[in-house]
Amino acid sequence: MAQLVLVPSTLELSAIGKPCFKPQTQCCMVNSTTLNLRTSKFPLKKVTFQRQKPLRSLTVCATTLPIGQDAPPQPTNGFDQSYRDSSKRKRVMVIGGDGYCGWATALHLSKKNYEVAIVDNLIRRTFDLQLGLDSLTPIASIHDRVSRWKSLTGKNIELYIGDICDFEFFSAAFKSFEPDTVVHFGEQRSAPYSMMDRPRALFTQSNNVIGTLNVLFAIKEFNEDCHMVKLGTMGEYGTPNIDIEEGYITITHNGRTDTLPYPKQANSFYHLSKVHDSNNIHFSCKTWGIRATDLNQGVVYGVRTDETDMHEELCNRLDYDGVFGTALNRFCVQAAVGHPLTVYGKGGQTRGYLDIRDTVQCMELAIANPAKPGEFRVFNQFTEQFSVRDLATLVSKAGEKLGIDVKTITVPNPVSKMRSTITMLSALSLSRLHLMAHIFITSYLYFLDNVACCFAENVDWVRICPSKSLKKCKARPKLAQ
Ligand SMILES: NC(=O)c1ccc[n+]([C@@H]2O[C@H](COP(=O)([O-])OP(=O)(O)OC[C@H]3O[C@@H](n4cnc5c(N)ncnc54)[C@H](O)[C@@H]3O)[C@@H](O)[C@H]2O)c1
Repeated sequence: MAQLVLVPSTLELSAIGKPCFKPQTQCCMVNSTTLNLRTSKFPLKKVTFQRQKPLRSLTVCATTLPIGQDAPPQPTNGFDQSYRDSSKRKRVMVIGGDGYCGWATALHLSKKNYEVAIVDNLIRRTFDLQLGLDSLTPIASIHDRVSRWKSLTGKNIELYIGDICDFEFFSAAFKSFEPDTVVHFGEQRSAPYSMMDRPRALFTQSNNVIGTLNVLFAIKEFNEDCHMVKLGTMGEYGTPNIDIEEGYITITHNGRTDTLPYPKQANSFYHLSKVHDSNNIHFSCKTWGIRATDLNQGVVYGVRTDETDMHEELCNRLDYDGVFGTALNRFCVQAAVGHPLTVYGKGGQTRGYLDIRDTVQCMELAIANPAKPGEFRVFNQFTEQFSVRDLATLVSKAGEKLGIDVKTITVPNPVSKMRSTITMLSALSLSRLHLMAHIFITSYLYFLDNVACCFAENVDWVRICPSKSLKKCKARPKLAQ
């Protein structure tokens, strides 16, 4: 089994710091035109982290009782309400909590009075070291992050550093924390990374599929009532020439009708690992009666949430390179440094998108309104749809408003065999749960101004030029057998 090398065994709590960012507010109801926008400007400062003198050390699996303020949101009709019947504070284990979506989610849930534990083997940071990549925004170590959170809010986030593919480690963490919900972000999540070479294809598949199986077995063996919230991706569906439904489709064939899992057409070993995951989860729910939600996310953009804004050490990562970055992040960084936006081919590839602040809301909604025992729900999680060409236009417009002259050039499409447009994506479940969504263009204007431009001098130009393909990177993954 492919596994990673690690692991620190202690965490340090550093001295109390003061919040330095103000919150930003821009939101609307999904499928509605209401817009509540505040446009005050408060740029991120560029910072160099200096480790403060630790006050004390404790073991990674330490527990405390955080002091909460906000009650979890009210239940919605049609979902299992037994989860909320108990007055006990709910315990959420966030696997992959040091990563982009996981870190923002862990802080948001902690703020909302959930008891939170992060499980992570820090392999994402190792990928950066191996490939010579870096987040545009400086990120503190996970130990400093949780210490800072504790010093600012009084809330504890438990930390379990280890690999979920190691069942001994994971079952010990699961039994120690006793989660009511496991949110599983802990996967290798880059399609280009999975397509680089054989070792990385094998690593992606084994890491993702075995990790998910271990989570399922831990739930079955130690707490069958635990709700699993698993992150999938809209990319699993491929680009069929019919509307994409939420997980299932009703088909009439030779006079008989059935509702079946929606067909998946993965186009990378990464996306294939997600297909295996969904099949394994579907099977486990039906066979063992456990409950699960698959959140098929669109492309997530943005870097700031109310919680990460509280201090530089809580800052989230921003990837803009050709392996882990999205086209959108790359456009943003290209605009900020005066590089033309590089649109592949005709730029017709249409995807669903959502703001990182909506990702954390979606998590909260899915957790607070869990699936029923034996149910495997699928939510498509995005708030708007754009083609790559649309994005380039929107980024150019945002640039104009900021006085930046943004040019766009076309470069050959490396995946030209894919059909480029999706007729319609469906995301009904989240609107039923009353997601308050952020609007792309306003978020993006802010993002370009306050993140990309602020950190423009950190940009590595090699990473934003399409001709320098990281597929040619000679670094080999360091995998233990
Ligand atoms: N970021 C997006 O735009 C996006 C879009 C759609 C779906 N998703 C899904 O959301 C999830 C999280 O994505 P992300 O962007 O936060 O990724 P990320 O790489 O930033 O974070 C993943 C985290 O999981 C950890 N991890 C990986 N394998 C692990 C293992 N075996 N044991 C313990 N920890 C492990 C990594 O160290 C990392 O901190 C992924 O499943 C991804 O497929 C993300």
